[in-house]
Amino acid sequence: MILRDAVRVLASNWDGSYTVPSRRLYPHQWSWDSAFIAIGNARWSPRRARAELLTLFGAQWADGRVPHIVFNPAVPEGAYFPGPEFWRTGAPSGVRTSGIVQPPVHALAAWKVHLSEPDPAFLRRIYPRLVAQQEFLRSARRSPEGLISIVHPWESGMDNSPAWDLPLAAVRPGPLGFVRRDLDSVSAEERPTDRDYHQYVELARAYRESGYREPGAFQVECPLFNAAYGVAESTLARIAKVCGLDPEPHEREAAALTRAMVTHLFDGRLFQARDVPSGALLRSSSAAGLTPLMLPGLPPEVAEALIGTALDRFGLKELPLPSYAPDAPGFDAARYWRGPSWVNVSWLVWQGLRERRPDLARTLAESVMRAVSRSGFREYFDPRTLRGHGCRDFSWSAALVLDLVAEHGLNALKPPGRQAGQEQWSVGKVDDIGDHVLA
Ligand code: SER
Repeated sequence: MILRDAVRVLASNWDGSYTVPSRRLYPHQWSWDSAFIAIGNARWSPRRARAELLTLFGAQWADGRVPHIVFNPAVPEGAYFPGPEFWRTGAPSGVRTSGIVQPPVHALAAWKVHLSEPDPAFLRRIYPRLVAQQEFLRSARRSPEGLISIVHPWESGMDNSPAWDLPLAAVRPGPLGFVRRDLDSVSAEERPTDRDYHQYVELARAYRESGYREPGAFQVECPLFNAAYGVAESTLARIAKVCGLDPEPHEREAAALTRAMVTHLFDGRLFQARDVPSGALLRSSSAAGLTPLMLPGLPPEVAEALIGTALDRFGLKELPLPSYAPDAPGFDAARYWRGPSWVNVSWLVWQGLRERRPDLARTLAESVMRAVSRSGFREYFDPRTLRGHGCRDFSWSAALVLDLVAEHGLNALKPPGRQAGQEQWSVGKVDDIGDHVLA
């Protein structure tokens, strides 16, 4: 049932050429959501997966940035805040978008879509777009040390992570004068606070007023964002090869980024974010600090240290990866990015463990399956009780489960002790399910 339900979630969140993360809470197209959704859709409908990515890149700005939200003009302004009236971006294409970005996990998604159903024409079409996305980050956001910065907590994807508490303390909350729509469908204890929202809105407003050019009071180098950027370069090298182009510049860039991350962001146990204005490390216990495991060129001793931290502090053998270490002050099991387990961050770390520690990769996949089979495709989960939080029928939770199952096989991920016939995860291959659900 679980696979069929996953495809049902994705099919009901499909809007014709892309997928909403959630019908009520996030009723437009989101950038990194679409990458994760494409990875899952690739397992049952590669055509949808390609459309998802091409639709997103259809809204790419002339400067190469891929906006974090592409608005659906048919959805009323009041359905989501901040909507197009706030961002006021009016691209020449007529597509309305936000003006900030999200972690660039799209090259990896495009590559995984290609692996599911080889399509060099798709790769040739999307490659220049992916390169332009990276070039925007290099030209607008790269520090002399070679690291990429973000200018808004929303750009990290991990909005209210405790890692951002310190740099946000310098942001004066803007005036009231907007209505949060997120609390219409999710309880306030599971979302960022009003103070957080006032700061988010103030930062976005200031960036907008600079023509989306000048960073405001928040400028940090996030380990997850930088790991995604580096993995994008190593993936672009593979894509370039298929397209008959030179992979070498991408390989060089991936190696340089990996070196810069180890030199400037690694504290010996975990990668940390860095505050750009002061140059200081923002010490926290965020799972973002484990995601550099994905970098293929990470020195083995650094990978070993991260795995040790994941085992000791993030319960890697027992828990679906918490977004924040449960033993750290600031951990909150239910509040958005301050502790709950999210399927996408688990998936990124799983991706980093697959070759290094296949045993632990499988253990992590099993934990994710336990969470979704207990609570459904919720947005996030209490890592210890597996209780679901946030919205229901969340697209990337469903999508990435399809990918995990396709990699490991359903039987391999079944909880021990369950007899055939009793299991709630029935049915056969992932690829058969799409036909069944869409029939
Ligand atoms: N994640 C933010 C939200 O909750 C915006 O991208 O709406």
